[in-house]
Amino acid sequence: MDSAAGPASPSLRWDEPPEGPVIALLDQRRLPAEEVELICTDVPVLVDAIRTLAVRGAPLLGIAGAYGVALAAVRGFDVQQAAEQLAHARPTAVNLAYGVRRALGAYEQAVKDGADVRRAAAAALAEARALHREDAEASARMAAHGLALLRELLPGGGYRVLTHCNTGSLVSGGEGTALAVASAVHRAGQLRRLWVDETRPLLQGARLTAYEAARAGMAYTLLTDNAAGSLFAAGEVDAVLIGADRIAADGSVANKVGSYPLAVLARYHHVPFIVVAPTTTVDLDTPEGSAIEVEQRPGHEVTEFAAPLVTGVAAEPGMGVPAAPLGTQAYNPAFDVTPPELVTAIVTENGVVSPVTRPGLAELCRGPEKER
Ligand code: MRU
Repeated sequence: MDSAAGPASPSLRWDEPPEGPVIALLDQRRLPAEEVELICTDVPVLVDAIRTLAVRGAPLLGIAGAYGVALAAVRGFDVQQAAEQLAHARPTAVNLAYGVRRALGAYEQAVKDGADVRRAAAAALAEARALHREDAEASARMAAHGLALLRELLPGGGYRVLTHCNTGSLVSGGEGTALAVASAVHRAGQLRRLWVDETRPLLQGARLTAYEAARAGMAYTLLTDNAAGSLFAAGEVDAVLIGADRIAADGSVANKVGSYPLAVLARYHHVPFIVVAPTTTVDLDTPEGSAIEVEQRPGHEVTEFAAPLVTGVAAEPGMGVPAAPLGTQAYNPAFDVTPPELVTAIVTENGVVSPVTRPGLAELCRGPEKER
Protein backbone atom coordinates (compact mmCIF):
# COMPACT_ATOMS: atom_id res chain seq x y z
CA MET A 1 0.00 0.00 0.00
CA ASP A 2 1.20 3.51 -0.76
CA SER A 3 2.19 4.82 2.66
CA ALA A 4 0.56 8.17 1.83
CA ALA A 5 -2.74 6.47 1.06
CA GLY A 6 -5.45 5.60 3.54
CA PRO A 7 -6.14 1.96 4.37
CA ALA A 8 -8.40 -0.04 2.09
CA SER A 9 -11.62 0.17 4.11
CA PRO A 10 -14.61 -1.66 2.68
CA SER A 11 -16.86 1.19 3.74
CA LEU A 12 -15.08 4.34 2.50
CA ARG A 13 -12.38 5.15 0.01
CA TRP A 14 -10.92 8.24 -1.59
CA ASP A 15 -10.80 7.88 -5.34
CA GLU A 16 -9.39 10.06 -8.12
CA PRO A 17 -11.11 9.23 -11.42
CA PRO A 18 -10.42 11.52 -14.43
CA GLU A 19 -13.55 13.60 -13.68
CA GLY A 20 -12.09 14.62 -10.33
CA PRO A 21 -11.68 13.28 -6.78
CA VAL A 22 -14.58 11.64 -4.97
CA ILE A 23 -15.39 9.88 -1.73
CA ALA A 24 -16.83 6.44 -2.49
CA LEU A 25 -19.00 5.04 0.30
CA LEU A 26 -20.43 1.57 0.65
CA ASP A 27 -24.07 2.62 1.05
CA GLN A 28 -24.98 1.10 4.42
CA ARG A 29 -28.69 1.88 3.93
CA ARG A 30 -28.84 -0.83 1.30
CA LEU A 31 -27.06 -3.62 3.16
CA PRO A 32 -27.38 -6.53 3.38
CA ALA A 33 -29.44 -6.82 0.20
CA GLU A 34 -27.12 -4.88 -2.07
CA GLU A 35 -23.49 -3.81 -1.99
CA VAL A 36 -23.73 -0.49 -3.77
CA GLU A 37 -21.31 2.42 -3.71
CA LEU A 38 -22.51 5.95 -3.20
CA ILE A 39 -20.19 8.40 -4.93
CA CYS A 40 -19.86 11.78 -3.23
CA THR A 41 -18.63 14.45 -5.58
CA ASP A 42 -19.51 17.31 -3.28
CA VAL A 43 -20.11 18.09 0.35
CA PRO A 44 -23.95 18.31 0.41
CA VAL A 45 -24.13 14.72 -0.91
CA LEU A 46 -21.79 13.60 1.87
CA VAL A 47 -23.75 15.54 4.51
CA ASP A 48 -26.94 13.85 3.33
CA ALA A 49 -25.19 10.45 3.41
CA ILE A 50 -24.20 11.12 7.02
CA ARG A 51 -27.71 12.25 8.06
CA THR A 52 -29.41 9.30 6.40
CA LEU A 53 -26.87 6.74 7.69
CA ALA A 54 -25.38 5.69 4.36
CA VAL A 55 -22.17 6.27 6.27
CA ARG A 56 -22.36 5.89 10.04
CA GLY A 57 -20.71 4.75 13.27
CA ALA A 58 -18.47 7.04 15.30
CA PRO A 59 -14.97 6.28 13.96
CA LEU A 60 -16.10 6.22 10.33
CA LEU A 61 -17.98 9.49 10.78
CA GLY A 62 -14.69 11.07 11.86
CA ILE A 63 -12.89 9.68 8.82
CA ALA A 64 -15.73 10.78 6.51
CA GLY A 65 -15.71 14.28 8.02
CA ALA A 66 -11.97 14.63 7.45
CA TYR A 67 -12.17 13.42 3.85
CA GLY A 68 -15.15 15.72 3.35
CA VAL A 69 -13.03 18.75 4.24
CA ALA A 70 -10.31 17.45 1.89
CA LEU A 71 -12.91 17.02 -0.88
CA ALA A 72 -14.04 20.62 -0.48
CA ALA A 73 -10.45 21.84 -0.52
CA VAL A 74 -9.35 19.76 -3.51
CA ARG A 75 -12.43 20.68 -5.56
CA GLY A 76 -12.14 24.37 -4.69
CA PHE A 77 -15.35 24.68 -2.61
CA ASP A 78 -15.66 26.93 0.44
CA VAL A 79 -13.67 24.92 2.99
CA GLN A 80 -14.91 26.74 6.09
CA GLN A 81 -18.53 26.35 5.07
CA ALA A 82 -17.99 22.67 4.24
CA ALA A 83 -16.37 22.08 7.63
CA GLU A 84 -19.26 23.78 9.38
CA GLN A 85 -21.90 21.71 7.53
CA LEU A 86 -20.06 18.44 8.05
CA ALA A 87 -19.32 18.98 11.74
CA HIS A 88 -23.01 19.59 12.43
CA ALA A 89 -24.47 16.85 10.25
CA ARG A 90 -25.07 14.68 13.35
CA PRO A 91 -24.55 15.87 16.92
CA THR A 92 -23.70 12.93 19.18
CA ALA A 93 -20.64 11.13 17.79
CA VAL A 94 -17.77 13.38 18.79
CA ASN A 95 -15.51 11.78 16.17
CA LEU A 96 -17.30 13.65 13.39
CA ALA A 97 -16.35 17.12 14.65
CA TYR A 98 -12.91 15.79 15.60
CA GLY A 99 -12.20 14.49 12.07
CA VAL A 100 -13.42 17.74 10.52
CA ARG A 101 -11.25 19.76 12.90
CA ARG A 102 -8.15 17.70 12.10
CA ALA A 103 -8.41 18.17 8.33
CA LEU A 104 -9.43 21.81 8.63
CA GLY A 105 -6.54 22.45 11.02
CA ALA A 106 -4.06 20.94 8.56
CA TYR A 107 -5.52 23.05 5.74
CA GLU A 108 -5.40 26.27 7.74
CA GLN A 109 -1.89 25.62 9.00
CA ALA A 110 -0.70 25.07 5.43
CA VAL A 111 -2.29 28.36 4.35
CA LYS A 112 -0.66 30.11 7.30
CA ASP A 113 2.68 28.64 6.27
CA GLY A 114 2.28 30.21 2.83
CA ALA A 115 1.03 27.19 0.87
CA ASP A 116 -1.05 27.84 -2.21
CA VAL A 117 -4.58 26.41 -2.40
CA ARG A 118 -3.41 23.19 -4.10
CA ARG A 119 -0.80 22.43 -1.43
CA ALA A 120 -3.18 23.34 1.38
CA ALA A 121 -5.73 20.91 -0.08
CA ALA A 122 -3.03 18.23 -0.22
CA ALA A 123 -2.32 18.86 3.48
CA ALA A 124 -6.01 18.35 4.31
CA LEU A 125 -6.07 15.11 2.33
CA ALA A 126 -2.88 13.86 3.98
CA GLU A 127 -4.46 14.52 7.38
CA ALA A 128 -7.62 12.61 6.45
CA ARG A 129 -5.48 9.68 5.33
CA ALA A 130 -3.46 9.84 8.54
CA LEU A 131 -6.65 9.71 10.62
CA HIS A 132 -7.87 6.77 8.52
CA ARG A 133 -4.61 4.87 9.16
CA GLU A 134 -4.57 5.76 12.86
CA ASP A 135 -8.09 4.40 13.22
CA ALA A 136 -7.04 1.11 11.64
CA GLU A 137 -4.12 0.87 14.08
CA ALA A 138 -6.30 1.80 17.05
CA SER A 139 -8.76 -0.88 16.04
CA ALA A 140 -6.10 -3.61 16.09
CA ARG A 141 -4.87 -2.49 19.49
CA MET A 142 -8.37 -2.34 20.97
CA ALA A 143 -8.96 -5.88 19.73
CA ALA A 144 -5.85 -7.12 21.50
CA HIS A 145 -6.62 -5.26 24.74
CA GLY A 146 -10.25 -6.42 24.66
CA LEU A 147 -9.33 -10.06 24.15
CA ALA A 148 -6.84 -9.91 27.02
CA LEU A 149 -9.44 -8.28 29.26
CA LEU A 150 -12.06 -10.92 28.53
CA ARG A 151 -9.58 -13.67 29.31
CA GLU A 152 -8.68 -11.95 32.56
CA LEU A 153 -12.28 -11.35 33.65
CA LEU A 154 -13.58 -14.73 32.49
CA PRO A 155 -10.84 -17.34 32.41
CA GLY A 156 -11.76 -20.37 30.36
CA GLY A 157 -12.98 -19.09 27.00
CA GLY A 158 -16.01 -20.32 25.11
CA TYR A 159 -17.57 -16.88 25.40
CA ARG A 160 -21.15 -15.99 24.66
CA VAL A 161 -20.98 -12.31 23.85
CA LEU A 162 -23.91 -9.97 23.33
CA THR A 163 -23.50 -6.90 21.15
CA HIS A 164 -25.71 -4.01 20.10
CA CYS A 165 -25.77 -1.88 16.95
CA ASN A 166 -22.89 -2.26 14.50
CA THR A 167 -19.27 -1.72 15.43
CA GLY A 168 -17.22 -3.68 12.89
CA SER A 169 -15.19 -2.95 9.78
CA LEU A 170 -18.16 -1.06 8.34
CA VAL A 171 -17.53 1.75 10.83
CA SER A 172 -13.77 1.90 10.89
CA GLY A 173 -10.49 2.08 9.03
CA GLY A 174 -9.80 -1.36 10.52
CA GLU A 175 -11.95 -4.07 12.08
CA GLY A 176 -13.91 -1.66 14.25
CA THR A 177 -14.34 -1.42 18.00
CA ALA A 178 -16.51 -3.90 19.94
CA LEU A 179 -16.86 -6.18 16.92
CA ALA A 180 -13.08 -6.09 16.44
CA VAL A 181 -12.80 -7.63 19.91
CA ALA A 182 -15.43 -10.24 19.03
CA SER A 183 -13.47 -11.00 15.85
CA ALA A 184 -10.26 -11.46 17.84
CA VAL A 185 -12.09 -13.80 20.23
CA HIS A 186 -13.45 -15.69 17.21
CA ARG A 187 -9.99 -16.02 15.63
CA ALA A 188 -8.67 -17.29 18.95
CA GLY A 189 -11.30 -20.05 18.77
CA GLN A 190 -12.98 -18.76 21.92
CA LEU A 191 -16.26 -17.34 20.63
CA ARG A 192 -19.06 -19.76 21.42
CA ARG A 193 -21.83 -17.42 20.30
CA LEU A 194 -22.30 -13.83 19.24
CA TRP A 195 -25.73 -12.61 20.30
CA VAL A 196 -26.71 -9.82 17.91
CA ASP A 197 -29.38 -7.34 19.03
CA GLU A 198 -31.39 -6.32 15.97
CA THR A 199 -31.15 -2.67 17.13
CA ARG A 200 -34.45 -0.94 16.54
CA PRO A 201 -35.51 1.12 14.74
CA LEU A 202 -32.95 1.10 11.91
CA LEU A 203 -31.72 -2.47 12.38
CA GLN A 204 -27.97 -1.84 12.37
CA GLY A 205 -27.58 -5.16 14.24
CA ALA A 206 -29.76 -7.23 11.91
CA ARG A 207 -28.68 -5.61 8.66
CA LEU A 208 -25.02 -4.87 9.36
CA THR A 209 -23.61 -6.83 12.32
CA ALA A 210 -25.23 -10.06 11.15
CA TYR A 211 -23.82 -9.33 7.67
CA GLU A 212 -20.31 -8.91 9.09
CA ALA A 213 -20.61 -11.89 11.46
CA ALA A 214 -21.81 -14.15 8.64
CA ARG A 215 -18.92 -13.09 6.40
CA ALA A 216 -16.45 -13.74 9.21
CA GLY A 217 -17.90 -17.21 9.84
CA MET A 218 -18.88 -16.46 13.43
CA ALA A 219 -21.54 -18.49 15.24
CA TYR A 220 -24.14 -15.77 15.70
CA THR A 221 -27.80 -15.50 16.58
CA LEU A 222 -30.03 -12.51 15.96
CA LEU A 223 -32.52 -11.44 18.62
CA THR A 224 -35.02 -8.65 19.05
CA ASP A 225 -33.75 -6.05 21.49
CA ASN A 226 -36.50 -6.98 23.93
CA ALA A 227 -35.38 -10.62 24.02
CA ALA A 228 -32.08 -9.75 25.70
CA GLY A 229 -33.59 -9.84 29.20
CA SER A 230 -34.66 -13.44 28.98
CA LEU A 231 -31.25 -14.41 27.60
CA PHE A 232 -29.53 -12.87 30.62
CA ALA A 233 -32.03 -14.54 32.95
CA ALA A 234 -31.26 -17.89 31.34
CA GLY A 235 -27.53 -17.39 32.00
CA GLU A 236 -26.75 -17.34 28.29
CA VAL A 237 -24.65 -14.15 28.21
CA ASP A 238 -21.07 -14.05 29.50
CA ALA A 239 -20.23 -10.48 28.49
CA VAL A 240 -21.64 -7.45 26.71
CA LEU A 241 -19.39 -5.70 24.19
CA ILE A 242 -20.53 -2.38 22.77
CA GLY A 243 -19.02 0.69 21.13
CA ALA A 244 -19.56 4.36 21.90
CA ASP A 245 -20.38 7.58 20.13
CA ARG A 246 -19.13 9.89 22.86
CA ILE A 247 -17.63 9.19 26.25
CA ALA A 248 -17.81 12.12 28.67
CA ALA A 249 -14.95 12.97 31.04
CA ASP A 250 -16.74 11.17 33.91
CA GLY A 251 -16.90 7.95 31.86
CA SER A 252 -20.58 8.23 30.86
CA VAL A 253 -21.09 6.44 27.57
CA ALA A 254 -23.41 7.61 24.80
CA ASN A 255 -24.12 4.75 22.43
CA LYS A 256 -26.96 3.43 20.29
CA VAL A 257 -30.31 3.60 22.05
CA GLY A 258 -30.83 0.37 23.96
CA SER A 259 -27.31 0.26 25.37
CA TYR A 260 -28.33 1.64 28.76
CA PRO A 261 -31.02 -1.03 29.35
CA LEU A 262 -28.38 -3.65 28.52
CA ALA A 263 -26.05 -2.13 31.12
CA VAL A 264 -28.81 -2.33 33.74
CA LEU A 265 -29.50 -5.95 32.81
CA ALA A 266 -25.80 -6.78 32.87
CA ARG A 267 -25.36 -5.30 36.33
CA TYR A 268 -28.40 -7.16 37.70
CA HIS A 269 -27.12 -10.44 36.29
CA HIS A 270 -23.44 -9.86 37.24
CA VAL A 271 -22.26 -9.85 33.63
CA PRO A 272 -19.35 -7.60 32.54
CA PHE A 273 -20.47 -4.63 30.44
CA ILE A 274 -17.49 -3.62 28.32
CA VAL A 275 -17.26 -0.51 26.14
CA VAL A 276 -14.72 -0.52 23.32
CA ALA A 277 -13.87 2.83 21.73
CA PRO A 278 -10.81 4.71 20.48
CA THR A 279 -9.63 7.73 22.48
CA THR A 280 -10.98 9.89 19.63
CA THR A 281 -14.43 9.03 21.04
CA VAL A 282 -13.55 10.31 24.51
CA ASP A 283 -14.55 13.95 24.91
CA LEU A 284 -12.83 15.38 27.97
CA ASP A 285 -14.51 18.73 27.25
CA THR A 286 -17.90 17.20 28.02
CA PRO A 287 -17.84 16.95 31.81
CA GLU A 288 -20.60 14.40 32.33
CA GLY A 289 -23.25 12.33 30.65
CA SER A 290 -26.07 14.87 31.03
CA ALA A 291 -24.08 17.32 28.89
CA ILE A 292 -24.04 14.98 25.88
CA GLU A 293 -26.42 16.04 23.13
CA VAL A 294 -28.50 13.04 22.10
CA GLU A 295 -29.65 13.11 18.49
CA GLN A 296 -33.42 12.91 18.06
CA ARG A 297 -34.39 11.23 14.80
CA PRO A 298 -37.61 11.60 12.79
CA GLY A 299 -40.66 9.81 14.13
CA HIS A 300 -41.42 8.08 10.84
CA GLU A 301 -38.44 5.77 11.48
CA VAL A 302 -40.63 4.29 14.24
CA THR A 303 -44.14 4.75 12.90
CA GLU A 304 -43.38 3.28 9.47
CA PHE A 305 -41.48 0.34 8.12
CA ALA A 306 -39.38 1.42 5.21
CA ALA A 307 -40.62 0.23 1.85
CA PRO A 308 -38.83 -1.67 0.61
CA LEU A 309 -36.88 -2.20 3.82
CA VAL A 310 -33.49 -2.50 2.13
CA THR A 311 -33.53 1.05 0.85
CA GLY A 312 -35.39 2.10 3.90
CA VAL A 313 -33.55 4.18 6.38
CA ALA A 314 -33.76 7.35 4.34
CA ALA A 315 -37.47 7.10 3.60
CA GLU A 316 -39.43 10.33 3.78
CA PRO A 317 -42.53 10.43 6.02
CA GLY A 318 -45.40 8.67 4.33
CA MET A 319 -43.25 6.56 2.04
CA GLY A 320 -43.17 3.50 4.27
CA VAL A 321 -45.63 0.84 5.38
CA PRO A 322 -47.58 2.09 8.42
CA ALA A 323 -46.54 0.47 11.71
CA ALA A 324 -48.85 2.72 13.76
CA PRO A 325 -52.03 4.72 13.17
CA LEU A 326 -51.55 7.80 11.02
CA GLY A 327 -50.59 10.81 13.14
CA THR A 328 -48.99 8.79 15.95
CA GLN A 329 -46.22 10.70 17.71
CA ALA A 330 -42.95 8.84 18.23
CA TYR A 331 -40.07 9.24 20.66
CA ASN A 332 -36.97 8.35 18.67
CA PRO A 333 -33.64 9.20 20.31
CA ALA A 334 -30.74 7.68 18.36
CA PHE A 335 -28.65 7.15 21.49
CA ASP A 336 -28.82 6.78 25.26
CA VAL A 337 -26.30 7.45 27.98
CA THR A 338 -24.99 4.81 30.37
CA PRO A 339 -23.52 6.11 33.65
CA PRO A 340 -19.93 5.08 34.46
CA GLU A 341 -20.93 3.02 37.49
CA LEU A 342 -22.67 0.54 35.18
CA VAL A 343 -19.63 0.18 32.91
CA THR A 344 -17.22 -2.59 33.91
CA ALA A 345 -14.40 -1.35 31.69
CA ILE A 346 -13.60 0.99 28.82
CA VAL A 347 -11.15 -0.46 26.32
CA THR A 348 -9.19 1.99 24.15
CA GLU A 349 -6.14 1.65 21.93
CA ASN A 350 -4.06 2.91 24.88
CA GLY A 351 -5.28 0.24 27.27
CA VAL A 352 -8.14 -0.39 29.65
CA VAL A 353 -9.71 1.67 32.42
CA SER A 354 -11.54 -0.34 35.08
CA PRO A 355 -13.18 0.74 37.27
CA VAL A 356 -14.16 3.70 35.19
CA THR A 357 -13.06 6.89 36.91
CA ARG A 358 -12.58 10.45 35.70
CA PRO A 359 -8.80 10.51 36.46
CA GLY A 360 -8.31 7.02 35.07
CA LEU A 361 -9.96 7.95 31.80
CA ALA A 362 -8.04 11.22 31.51
CA GLU A 363 -4.76 9.40 32.09
CA LEU A 364 -5.57 6.78 29.48
CA CYS A 365 -6.27 9.53 26.95
CA ARG A 366 -2.93 11.19 27.66
CA GLY A 367 -0.60 8.42 26.69
CA PRO A 368 0.09 5.06 25.19
CA GLU A 369 -0.26 1.70 26.87
CA LYS A 370 -1.17 2.86 30.35
CA GLU A 371 -1.81 0.05 32.80
CA ARG A 372 -4.94 -0.05 34.90
O1 MRU B 1 -26.69 5.78 14.49
P1 MRU B 1 -25.44 5.01 14.20
O2 MRU B 1 -25.69 3.76 13.43
O3 MRU B 1 -24.36 5.86 13.61
O4 MRU B 1 -24.95 4.56 15.64
C1 MRU B 1 -23.73 3.89 15.77
C2 MRU B 1 -23.49 3.40 17.15
O5 MRU B 1 -24.20 3.68 18.08
C3 MRU B 1 -22.25 2.59 17.36
O6 MRU B 1 -22.44 1.69 18.41
C4 MRU B 1 -21.12 3.56 17.74
O7 MRU B 1 -20.94 4.55 16.77
C5 MRU B 1 -19.86 2.86 17.94
S1 MRU B 1 -19.25 2.31 16.37
C6 MRU B 1 -17.78 1.84 16.57
